[in-house]
Amino acid sequence: MSLSCAGAEIVFWFFLSYADCIILHMARTQITDTTKKIGEIVDIYGWVAVRRDHGKIIFIDVRDRSGVVQVVLGPWSGEALYAQAQDLRSEWVVHVQGLVKERPANLVNPDVPTGTIEIEARELTVINQSKTSPFPLDTDGYAINEELRMQYRYLDLRRPRLLRNLMARHRIIKHIRDYLDREGFCEVETPILTKSTPEGARDYVVPSRLYAGKFFALPQSPQQYKQLLMAGGIEKYFQIARCFRDEDTRGDRQPEFTQLDLEMSFVEREDVMRLNEALLIDIVTTLFPEKKIQEIPFPRLTYKEAMETYGTDRPDLRKDKNDPHLLAFAWVIDFPFFEKVEDKKVYHPGEQWTFTHNPFSAPRPEHMAWLMGKEHIGEILTTQYDVALNGFEIGGGSIRNHQPEALEKVFEIMGYAKETVTANFGHMLEAFTYGTPSHGGIAWGLDRLCTLLLNEPNIREVIAFPKTGDAKDLMMQAPAELEEKQLRELHIAIDEKIKK
Ligand code: AMO
Repeated sequence: MSLSCAGAEIVFWFFLSYADCIILHMARTQITDTTKKIGEIVDIYGWVAVRRDHGKIIFIDVRDRSGVVQVVLGPWSGEALYAQAQDLRSEWVVHVQGLVKERPANLVNPDVPTGTIEIEARELTVINQSKTSPFPLDTDGYAINEELRMQYRYLDLRRPRLLRNLMARHRIIKHIRDYLDREGFCEVETPILTKSTPEGARDYVVPSRLYAGKFFALPQSPQQYKQLLMAGGIEKYFQIARCFRDEDTRGDRQPEFTQLDLEMSFVEREDVMRLNEALLIDIVTTLFPEKKIQEIPFPRLTYKEAMETYGTDRPDLRKDKNDPHLLAFAWVIDFPFFEKVEDKKVYHPGEQWTFTHNPFSAPRPEHMAWLMGKEHIGEILTTQYDVALNGFEIGGGSIRNHQPEALEKVFEIMGYAKETVTANFGHMLEAFTYGTPSHGGIAWGLDRLCTLLLNEPNIREVIAFPKTGDAKDLMMQAPAELEEKQLRELHIAIDEKIKK
């Protein structure tokens, strides 16, 4: 049915209120749908991708989120409309009303989904003009200076590749949500203003206005909260969770990134691994049918085997590294629980031992006695499992230590003073004295997974507004100074030496 209020739709007219009619008349057609509307008048809204003047004929490629279509104007369009079209420039935002016409066979463009039609403009409204973009938007963008792309990220996002990435990321997250919902999981949001989690990186901190000299920390992960949700009886939790770590940024690392975080009660290592493996396979086969998973079930290596054979705990097992569609997943298990502290840059109050992954992990059941006796510390293995994909660590988790005495031993081995343990982890130890179920979980680096599935060279390409390599947001100009008044409210004085 045409959405026009006139002519053949006269019968409808009687049944529609004036307001309905206006709404129908204004109804927008997505550009990809124009091919289904041959012979009809449509209203399209979008950006001018290109304007081409061919003698007396003007072609305008109009782009919206769904695609691009060719709009055509000529002497038949009338002087005013024709003159208006001559003024159009790239990236101007327009509303075009026009007639969808089939193209003659010799003018069909097979490279464009709308290449079988064009729209003969009848009305043109400029919704907004645009300055000239600082870089081209019709390329893949890889060759453009990345700082410039970041500064004008809202323009960069108009690039079809980035739009594809954000849409794919959305689909992956939706797929995860639906899958876990069917499996009986409950998505729970956990706080962003919290207390530091000892997970190896530096915290981002937020000063408290109400409590002078006190600070919140942004979560490095929801680790403690998800365990406390298990204490709270939630049994099957997940979250698409934002995490914050003040560490050096790299191609596969951002200061702010997203995890699929998950925790389950009354499970063993096999249960968590089985569920996650099935979910990963389901994502690939449903959303990326062109990809091939090299080996199912995913191969498993012990940490020792991985290090001895490949020299890394995230080996790239692909048999053909030139195949962009080959996915070689692998589990790495049996990590050492503790390692001797050598890297003095990592903050830890103990002197000798630190955890390799997570202080809340349980040891392998056969090594519990060593942990409780504080013996063979370097040989104690954890229930930790990591999942690697094509040489990247895309996830990791473990079965947790739900016995307060055993958890206390971990902190003792790391040399934490009793007061430090109470101050930092008292709430966890206390919770575990109130009937906490056995539990375990995992977190995936969602940005990394998307990067690999989309064959992108780094995680910035799959994040809408990423930070630069030196941890800045060039578009918002963050981090930035605060007003004196704000600083005073927060009880903060800036060291004179670093003031400009
Ligand atoms: P972990 O610290 O191993 O475990 O993090 C889980 C996964 O998150 C991804 N990741 C990152 N991605 C982008 N930028 C970063 N800076 C970054 N840091 C980590 C990795 C990694 O495998 N709470 C535990 C999980 C658990 O035990 O359940 C945790 O956060 O892909």
